[in-house]
Amino acid sequence: MEKKTFYITTPIYYPSGKFHIGTAYTTTLVDTIKKYKKMRGYDAYMLTGLDEHGQKIQEVAKKLGRTPKEHVDIMAEEAKKLWKLMEIEYDDFIRTTDEHHEKAVTKIVEKFIENGDIYKGSYEGWYCMPCETYYTETQLIDGKCPECNREVKKMKEESYFFNMKKYQDKLLKLYEEHPDFILPEFRKNEIFSNFIKPGLEDLCITRTTFDWGIKMPNDPKHVLYVWVDALTNYITALGYMSDDDTLFKKYWPAQFQVVGKDIIRFHGIYWPIFLMSLGLEIPEHIYAHGYIVMKDGKMSKSKGNVIYPENLISRYGIDATKYYLLRELSFSQDSLFTPEGFVERFNYDLCNDLGNLLNRTIGMINKYFGGCLKADLSVEKDIDKNMHNFISEKINLVEKNMDEYRISDAIAEIWNIIARTNKYIDETSPWVLAKNEEKEYLSLVMYNLVDSLRKIAILIMPFMKNTSNSMFNQLGINDDKLKSWDSLYQNNCLKEINVIEKGEPLFLRLDSDEEVQYIKDVMHGG
Ligand code: ME8
Ligand code: MG
Repeated sequence: MEKKTFYITTPIYYPSGKFHIGTAYTTTLVDTIKKYKKMRGYDAYMLTGLDEHGQKIQEVAKKLGRTPKEHVDIMAEEAKKLWKLMEIEYDDFIRTTDEHHEKAVTKIVEKFIENGDIYKGSYEGWYCMPCETYYTETQLIDGKCPECNREVKKMKEESYFFNMKKYQDKLLKLYEEHPDFILPEFRKNEIFSNFIKPGLEDLCITRTTFDWGIKMPNDPKHVLYVWVDALTNYITALGYMSDDDTLFKKYWPAQFQVVGKDIIRFHGIYWPIFLMSLGLEIPEHIYAHGYIVMKDGKMSKSKGNVIYPENLISRYGIDATKYYLLRELSFSQDSLFTPEGFVERFNYDLCNDLGNLLNRTIGMINKYFGGCLKADLSVEKDIDKNMHNFISEKINLVEKNMDEYRISDAIAEIWNIIARTNKYIDETSPWVLAKNEEKEYLSLVMYNLVDSLRKIAILIMPFMKNTSNSMFNQLGINDDKLKSWDSLYQNNCLKEINVIEKGEPLFLRLDSDEEVQYIKDVMHGG
């Protein structure tokens, strides 16, 4: 049987500066969902990439004494290096300067023109250069950019427009018929009442104020402004409007497109309208997550409060970094990054709860059984049944949350399993069983601990692969079948247990003061 496809995307990021943990978060989230879907038997395909055109990139390059092309080439290497370091398994990395993308975008715009969706007009408004967005007078906050609070400039230029108004009714219908098109629901409601209900504004799609971009067909003085060029990446990457569109036929429409809350408006309005104009299917979900914020507000270089993933990874490892990001950011809210919070999660969740559970289990099996045992499952008591039931319920909840893309909730449920397993050690008191020479039951308790750890290792695999592998190694579990998602529902699949002689700690406890200071230092560019 052919596998069901699952196409998932990140935004394409601006290569304007070093990538921080905000971008790393989105990419990690998407990668985790992709890996989960693969484990569940889907043919999952992940796209990420860079949004390389536009005035801002042109200016950044100039400041650095580079041509725009030199600059984006360097940044593309940096992005790929970072994703490799973070063990992100994307299937394709699109750059909007890729020739096949530029050609396809030209054809897409020609199609828009053919459909009568484009007209020439003139645009006047307040322009925010860093955000590359025009605002109307009323959208400004205290005369400044409502997004980034920086100065805006009044500008007027002749430009091409996309006739969004024409699609107003179709878009309303889409929102009606497809109520979970945008997730979470409150973001949908916001867009709906702020932008759709009052009536759509046509979108200005070209600029004449810079030339680093794709030219308007037959009018090269005009350069396509980022959103037509950027949003279409999700389909041009698959070969839409190119000679070979096999991937497009296979994977479109996307199941899950992830963006930050800053750009949900563009993805919730312009993107489906572009697709309608092209006569293409609409993605199943567009999901907007919240922001990672700092105590003193938004991350910014000038405030000296930016965290780069490399600084966390080199000191605490990939798994701890991903764990923190995915656990802290809930499905819908912003989350506050604090050095204290990071160290606390590391010490409590990873060292104490998970690391010690593995270590104690391996220590006991070595001490009481010389590392090797077989268990008779028929001596099971109520305590054991209780734990099994609890874990089965929680596995169901992990799945449910993962399927609803509530990753931090799923992880919280995994940590409930860990806590319950730790409690099981207290309930059964293996040291008492050993003293009383109740070897038969003691071996069942050890079996249950190993099997619970096995399940935990499977559940964390999509985002903590190294830890997961280390757990399997230490537990002596080699058979891939015992590492599969399907095997989560089996309680009796371990024939013989044979653990490593001396367990290795998964995470070494951190000195809080020292590490909080380290993180604060790197935040300030130290
Ligand atoms: O907007 N917390 O690119 P961009 C969480 N090129 N996520 C964050 C974040 C934070 N503090 N800061 C950034 C663009 N992000 C366009 C997109 S798509 C067709 C074009 C993440 O480099 C989040 O996903 O400004 C946000 O939407 C994205 O980076 C913005 O990246
Ligand atoms: Mg941005």
